[in-house]
Amino acid sequence: MTNIKFFGDPVPLEMHKVRIVQKLTLQPIEKRAEAISEAGNNTFLLKNRDVFLDMLTDSGVNAMSDRQLAAMMIADDSYAGSETHYRLEQKLRELFDMQYFLPTHQGRACEHILSKVLVKPESIVPMNYHFTTTKSHITLNGGTVEEIIIDEGLKVTSSNPFKGNMDIGKLDALIKQHGPAKISFVRMEAGTNLIGGQPFALDNLEKVQMLCREHSIPLVLDASLLADNLYFIKTREEKYKNLTIEEITRRIAACSDIIYFSARKLGCVRGGGMLIRDKALFLKMRGLIPLFEGFLTYGGMSVREMEAMTIGLEETMDEDMISQGPLFIAYMTEELQKAGVPVITPPGGLGCHIDAKQFLDHVPQEQYPAGALAVAIYLAGSIRGMERGTLSEQRNPDGSEQLSNMELVRLALPRRVFTLSQVKYAVDRISWLHQNRRLIEGLEFEEEPEILRFFFGRLKPVSDWKNKLTAKFRKDFDDSL
Ligand code: F0G
Repeated sequence: MTNIKFFGDPVPLEMHKVRIVQKLTLQPIEKRAEAISEAGNNTFLLKNRDVFLDMLTDSGVNAMSDRQLAAMMIADDSYAGSETHYRLEQKLRELFDMQYFLPTHQGRACEHILSKVLVKPESIVPMNYHFTTTKSHITLNGGTVEEIIIDEGLKVTSSNPFKGNMDIGKLDALIKQHGPAKISFVRMEAGTNLIGGQPFALDNLEKVQMLCREHSIPLVLDASLLADNLYFIKTREEKYKNLTIEEITRRIAACSDIIYFSARKLGCVRGGGMLIRDKALFLKMRGLIPLFEGFLTYGGMSVREMEAMTIGLEETMDEDMISQGPLFIAYMTEELQKAGVPVITPPGGLGCHIDAKQFLDHVPQEQYPAGALAVAIYLAGSIRGMERGTLSEQRNPDGSEQLSNMELVRLALPRRVFTLSQVKYAVDRISWLHQNRRLIEGLEFEEEPEILRFFFGRLKPVSDWKNKLTAKFRKDFDDSL
């Protein structure tokens, strides 16, 4: 895919063909306005039947391959000792060269077990950047998250190819300040989700590992978005361009003491798991699997998914396969940039990220600009994105808002799911919205849950801006329906 030369303007070229399809519907804007009001102006609460392009997430919705579907037929259904488990374990050992594997029902289950075993009250967990569920599990166990991403990581526009890098100087200072005993583990997240799917460099990971080894602090890798990160190391880190994807994977694994992942992302299935280097730690964690997940050889997953995971992980080593997401995301990002829409650069993995702080610079952060923009994007195109800003934060203990570093709307591009014309449609509608952005105003809570409020919270617009936007859309696109 990356080597194809074009006579005209290059476009990302799909190295697969679509053999199973799902029909979509595109409701008129008036219906969309009703649907998003019923959903409490929270895109998580929309019904899929009211959505044309579901760009909420890449989690559990990536397209599966013919080989994955075929593998599901040979799943060995048994409570204990399933052959399926041993095949998966073998594949993981082969790819990551780590001995011990624990299956879990999804990624956050690993975070649950990891935090229960390793996080003590008042301990500290430094990381390049947090993920919502990770932070919740660590704080539930009395720990504190310290984000030490490089400064460039939080800049919307940048030419730094590895905005997911950890600041090594800050890590060193943290260890010196608190002492290694207070640090439960250091966590590196591949394809750093909340700052726009930004990768870390292999060089950076190796430096983090050296510091961790020096102080005997375990290094934990969240590999949920590893596929994208692998592609970026291969294509952006000059030094490693001649390594194969397998070789890069092994180098990354060699730095890590624990690797956990959401297989809803990595491997294009559903489920998750954790690889552990140390036997004693493995045995400690193993005891919790039957308690929270399921017996040790399925961990809450269906064996069919596990068979598909084995193939999915193998297919992740194929550069054509893992390039599809990043290339489509780069295309979408660049087209939006041409239309003047503020987007996270360089383009990352997972999805295209719009900067709501700039897009809606007239909406105060306390009125959730990214949440409001997600509502507006749904209205304009029946496109479902996800707020990744202040709404996704937890309030401070004193009840005040924890204003987010970034106010993003994430438009995820699940792997091998959307066509280029659908991406072009999304670009068209968002460009229209950008021209009409002054019509958009903020949101306020009607119902605010205490934990992970962005999932179930219900909000209302601070004025009748949704009606104004709907009317303008109808005026501009009257002929199109
Ligand atoms: N770590 C990262 C980096 C993630 O992106 C996710 C999930 C998890 C852990 C938790 O895994 O969902 O299988 O329990 N991210 C999803 C998303 C929810 O939409 O970005 P899980």
